[in-house]
Amino acid sequence: MNSFNSYNKRLKKNQSPLLLSPGPVILATPIKKSLSQDMWHHRSFLFKKALRKISSDLKILFQTKQDVLILACTGTGAMEASLSNILSPKEEVLCVSAGKFGERWKEIALAFNLKPIVIEVPWGQAVSIKEIEKHLNNKNIKALLITACETSTATEQPIKEVAKLLKNYPDILLVVDAITGLGAMELKMDKWGIDVMIAGSQKTFWLPAGLAFICLSQKAWKKNLSSKLPKYYFDLNKERQAQQKGETAFSSSVSLIRALSVSLKLLKKKGLKNLIIRTETLKKACHIFCKFLGLELFSSKPANSLTALKVFSADSIKKNLERKHGIFIAGGQGQLKNKILRIGHLGPLTNKDFIRALKALGFELVKQKPDLFTKTKIKMALKKVEDILKPS
Ligand SMILES: Cc1ncc(COP(=O)(O)O)c(C=O)c1O
Repeated sequence: MNSFNSYNKRLKKNQSPLLLSPGPVILATPIKKSLSQDMWHHRSFLFKKALRKISSDLKILFQTKQDVLILACTGTGAMEASLSNILSPKEEVLCVSAGKFGERWKEIALAFNLKPIVIEVPWGQAVSIKEIEKHLNNKNIKALLITACETSTATEQPIKEVAKLLKNYPDILLVVDAITGLGAMELKMDKWGIDVMIAGSQKTFWLPAGLAFICLSQKAWKKNLSSKLPKYYFDLNKERQAQQKGETAFSSSVSLIRALSVSLKLLKKKGLKNLIIRTETLKKACHIFCKFLGLELFSSKPANSLTALKVFSADSIKKNLERKHGIFIAGGQGQLKNKILRIGHLGPLTNKDFIRALKALGFELVKQKPDLFTKTKIKMALKKVEDILKPS
């Protein structure tokens, strides 16, 4: 029997596949139903009506009065659009690089002929405000680029404090990659004074990958008027004009946008505050499980959206979880390959799903290191988890 058949057979025997990555996430039934509907034309009345409603709902998640634009790309496309729409060649940007996605800010800046000044933060740590402040008297810096939740290290960055600091430097725009942060941690765009905020559909929006969201403050739109970097598909001004009329500038990703209207309905019903509380609760449960078993967290400022834990043979555990238990969790990226596992807390996960994943992880830990882990110890750890997450 080939390995794919044996994998399928095991899945049938056990339970359905479970996605516990920090994006993409499992899909709720109403979203799956929406994705299988007949096509609408993107200039139809029905689509316009749906897009108008979505535009107003997105403002609630972004906590803004500004337009939140929908782009047909993944999050990285919106990161690129953010720079190409507010900056001009050779302008200096301050990049906070605390992991794989912070590094991406620098890479995009270089690709667009900008001059990145990089604050290298040890992976797993949050940037120090004092370190940022040291650079801000440089009058050439036009924007500060930062990642709200650094997914590669499961670390939260102090966005509120950075925004407060930047109030003293009104010529510097604050650009926040909130791709795994939005809807999982506090991010108050207008109140805190964030100038550009970016999100992606496969994370807290409970959708497949393929849509990105970007919102600009009035200050950022003003800078857009003088921006000279090349833009065509990602011309946000053109996109804003179209979306204000209930259209997208080019052919719309109709199925995903229609599914977005369903996911926003679900998210609105839960409420932003409760969504954040839910990710915090899963984080707490995950941390208790790790602590009880003596597994060390990688981050010194752990994010709500996911947990990164240091484990021996991480890649082999990850592989067994997928092939034998049908559970996908992420491994380490770059310098963290085979050193950590990353368990996502996002999407419509039930308590039962989460406990199933931790149980399978426990099973694999016992198998790999029976001298360190016993079935009894795992059961006790799971009991602690169940005290927080009542199995439903
Ligand atoms: C924090 C962060 N930034 C950027 C990205 C890139 O997003 P995408 O893969 O949707 O382009 C990711 C994806 O995981 C992410 O977690």
